[in-house]
Amino acid sequence: MEVIIRPNADSAAALTAALIAKDLKANPKLVMGLATGRTMEQVYSILIDLHKNEGLDFSQSTTFNLDEYIGIAPEDKNSYRYYMNERLFKQVNIKMESTNLPNGVAEDLVAECLAYDEKIKQVGGIDFQLLGIGRTGHIGFNEPLSSFQSRTRCKPLTPVTFAQNSPLFDDPSQMPLRAMTMGIATILESKNCVMLATGAEKADIISKAVEGPMTSMISATALQMHPKCVVIVDEPAAAKLEQREYYDWILLNEPKWEEFRNI
Ligand code: GLP
Repeated sequence: MEVIIRPNADSAAALTAALIAKDLKANPKLVMGLATGRTMEQVYSILIDLHKNEGLDFSQSTTFNLDEYIGIAPEDKNSYRYYMNERLFKQVNIKMESTNLPNGVAEDLVAECLAYDEKIKQVGGIDFQLLGIGRTGHIGFNEPLSSFQSRTRCKPLTPVTFAQNSPLFDDPSQMPLRAMTMGIATILESKNCVMLATGAEKADIISKAVEGPMTSMISATALQMHPKCVVIVDEPAAAKLEQREYYDWILLNEPKWEEFRNI
């Protein structure tokens, strides 16, 4: 794990977008695992700018989102499909048929989950996995008790997640209590992974996720086993990290971050 602390949320998002852009330029056929949530809005808006102003090309890339609410149709404004279409897909040159999210209204949810994993397998797995973190420590919707060997499946959402996400619904009481989520095993198999967290309300869970101990009660701790995971946080989200000086010291001595220092 590498921990990168940026002064504010904007520069944390800009660094995250720059890492995605770098990998996409190096491999136009990049398979991206994508996340939703408030934190990602700024990342996607920077990627759209890079597409419009610098020609960042999404035409050959493929995406797999982490999760979707069960019972919410893709065209519903509250669905993660709708979020992705509006906030990224429709504004860049990606082919819609190369964008994937679980279908929250599939007739057979178990079959839908199996097919989702199969599709990821067929393209050779995820090259770049983007992650946010929920207050329960979930990545995707891998709520507490998620096995580190889990694959795409249906998960009940916790009251904490309900409180965190329901204000995003036009009518908060309409937020489903279950979701489909990519599993932790699939996330751990991604070649590169970046988790972005900003804001003081993430400080507690970030310190637990990064500084352990590993536990299925906090899914993000599984990332400690990921061979190439970068955690990008802003100052408020970094506030409870005990080894902060160590992370800063590593960065000073790591030449590979030089090109990103001014972001
Ligand atoms: C949802 C998503 C998660 C995401 C989280 C963070 O719960 N399922 O994948 O990490 O939101 O949300 P926010 O960025 O709004 O804090």
